[in-house]
Amino acid sequence: MNKLIVVTGGTKGIGRAIIEKFAAHGFDVVTCARNERDLQQLKTALEDQHAIKVFTRPTDMAVKDDVKKFIEFVLSLNRPIDVLVNNAGYFIPGEIATEEEGALESMINANLYSAYYTTRGLVHGMRERKNGYIFNMCSIASIKAYPNGGSYAISKFALLGFSKCLREELKTFGIRVTAVMPGATLTASWEGINLPEERFMRAEDVADAVYGAYSLSGRSVVEEIIIRPQLGDI
Ligand SMILES: NC(=O)c1ccc[n+]([C@@H]2O[C@H](COP(=O)([O-])OP(=O)(O)OC[C@H]3O[C@@H](n4cnc5c(N)ncnc54)[C@H](OP(=O)(O)O)[C@@H]3O)[C@@H](O)[C@H]2O)c1
Repeated sequence: MNKLIVVTGGTKGIGRAIIEKFAAHGFDVVTCARNERDLQQLKTALEDQHAIKVFTRPTDMAVKDDVKKFIEFVLSLNRPIDVLVNNAGYFIPGEIATEEEGALESMINANLYSAYYTTRGLVHGMRERKNGYIFNMCSIASIKAYPNGGSYAISKFALLGFSKCLREELKTFGIRVTAVMPGATLTASWEGINLPEERFMRAEDVADAVYGAYSLSGRSVVEEIIIRPQLGDI
């Protein structure tokens, strides 16, 4: 049977690039997003291209009850999870003093609690099997404050803290945890920004770095992947 990767927020951008990379290496895929049609299209495209199965469920990862339903869906497949990528998340630009009230709550829900609850829901099988890999999609905003970063940076600093705690807790279970910290990557998140394409990283490069970390032997863990556009942050 194929190995299984679970990626939250997998229809576009970095999540999709990671799915395509692992699918090309023969992984079955479980993913979610809010838009059901995008999920259906992803499933059709991948299953046409590779000898794999893709399981999808429309889910809003910012809503705890929905996260729990996604977890139930994954567990109902009754399959060991080899890799979990907590990727779903979004960026609402703003400054702490002036951003719309609720921005912090919204991004903590989507960027932090989504990963926290998904991990709590799915890690037990990995612990029992003493095997597994968890990637948390942090950001350069996890280590660096910048203008207009606002509550996004707060949520991503917290996600890096979550990753560090998780790694410590899981290392004796043979589970590796990597915090992925990409800089500006050309995805839908940057729609409308007037900069040349070449100024951004490719989502495929982030996916290659993730697959590279996964490919190491179980004796080594890449704790953090910091990856930036060659010309630096935007
Ligand atoms: N792009 C960058 O420069 C960059 C840099 C550092 C870190 N990141 C992080 O990388 C992750 C992916 O970003 P991206 O740029 O690839 O974004 P993207 O191109 O906008 O894709 C986001 C994916 O996640 C899904 N998604 C978004 N919010 C969701 C929610 N509440 N519930 C379920 N699914 C959701 C989207 O589908 P739906 O819209 O249909 O829900 C889509 O499939 C995020 O955590 C982001 O913070 C991005």
